[in-house]
Amino acid sequence: MTKKEKLIIFDTTLRDGEQSPGASMTQDEKVRIAKALERMRVDVIEAGFPMASEGDFASVQAVARAVKDSTICGLARALDKDIERAGEAIKPANSGRIHTFIATSPIHMEKKLRMSPDQVVEQAVRAVKQARNYTDNVEFSPEDAGRSEHDFLCRIIEAVIDAGASTINIPDTVGYNLPHQFGSLIAELIERVPNADKAIFSVHCHNDLGLAVANSLSAVINGARQVECTINGLGERAGNASLEEVVMAIQTRQDLFSCNTTLDTTQIVPCSRLVSSITGFAVQPNKAIVGANAFAHESGIHQDGVLKSRETYEIMRAEDVGWSANRMVLGKHSGRNAFRSRLQELDIVFETEEALNEAFSRFKDLADKKHDIYDDDLQALVTQTRAASEIERVKLVSLKVCSETGETPNAAVTLSYDSEEKSATASGSGPVDATFKAIESVVKSNTELQLYSVNAITSGTDSQGEVTVRLEKGGRIVNGQGADTDIVIASARAYINAVNKLLEPVERAHPQI
Ligand code: KIV
Ligand code: ZN
Repeated sequence: MTKKEKLIIFDTTLRDGEQSPGASMTQDEKVRIAKALERMRVDVIEAGFPMASEGDFASVQAVARAVKDSTICGLARALDKDIERAGEAIKPANSGRIHTFIATSPIHMEKKLRMSPDQVVEQAVRAVKQARNYTDNVEFSPEDAGRSEHDFLCRIIEAVIDAGASTINIPDTVGYNLPHQFGSLIAELIERVPNADKAIFSVHCHNDLGLAVANSLSAVINGARQVECTINGLGERAGNASLEEVVMAIQTRQDLFSCNTTLDTTQIVPCSRLVSSITGFAVQPNKAIVGANAFAHESGIHQDGVLKSRETYEIMRAEDVGWSANRMVLGKHSGRNAFRSRLQELDIVFETEEALNEAFSRFKDLADKKHDIYDDDLQALVTQTRAASEIERVKLVSLKVCSETGETPNAAVTLSYDSEEKSATASGSGPVDATFKAIESVVKSNTELQLYSVNAITSGTDSQGEVTVRLEKGGRIVNGQGADTDIVIASARAYINAVNKLLEPVERAHPQI
């Protein structure tokens, strides 16, 4: 049997994924996701756009410090100041990469950059050379390559490889291409660029037409050896190619691919759950690989077939993507050491004993209400503990809700707002509506509620409900999360979490504007 080539998996959940409206993550959350990606043996983690803000710089640096086995990449526009920032941010990494980009489509060059093609080539070459002063591992992307002229792409790619880029990433930035077309673009570039053999060709597909995974796979068949993707397909607008779908398609159809990844696919489901719980972007039940129904057999005929021989209706094994990894590990009688050691296995370390004690006390409260504590419960608990330890201007002190058939539900809430206790009552169409109105009459955030969703973290009626609340104010969108065995309390926490995020001033640059 011929040895398969390696397909590099480049995860951009922490960068392009974070560009989804409301998906912004704290430094600690990014480090937790990066460690989960490292456990999955992802080759390259794009940790952020360091030039965006001080916070983004610090997050890339923190990920570069925490992760040992994956390459850590920082994004930079083809500008000196961006490259310097990215170079500094990835310095602590065992293996670091700078990913620099400039738009190459006629519409982007003319309308966005207002630059001539010659100027674009010159700036790209300069950027790559500058990035090489920080690392030998430089990636270049001609943004909007999917709508760029092929002759121009060949010209700029040849120039940046000569300047020292070792990865050439071809983005379908607006998700415009069809699979056969995108595949043939990759084959053409590899064929026509004279020094193509000195670089690895990569693809970065957006999902505006629902084709991001199909386009990525077509590119791999045509010679791409790196795919950029995100967990759960998170990303700008309709998102990026989903990591789990790309990886499992290639693994499952090895009869058709001459390459494979080296990922530990059993980490896929735990990582998907973590990203969903941190960002508040729920995974639809019928989502391939990681949706709750992805391996469920509803119809009697299918169930009968699967019982006789699994392969009749299953092309993958649920356990191979980590469906059994959500182990019941702890319960009411588990002690502090068991709690600490399971957290360590999940790469969660509390910096102080005080913080660990706080988390343990929350764990004990939860174990009183819920018999079995799963890893997903622990992850949600850690998210809550860390959120509470940040400087939150608004905190929930108490909540009382009355809901009865034939009566209008009402809620009485006491909050601490800038350390001053304030109470309010309100009625609403349901207990959650009443609770939100009562909170709003204290905080007066004047925001618009864009989304409210509840998800059971585990199965069973004693499961914690994980609530996401998306608020919008003046064009800024934030997601708040809350978890509790009582979903009205979880809802109040989620609303307050979102309000706290809105109360925090942010100044952040978007890389692609
Ligand atoms: O979609 C895109 O073009 C990007 C680039 C920065 C690679 O995200
Ligand atoms: Zn993108």
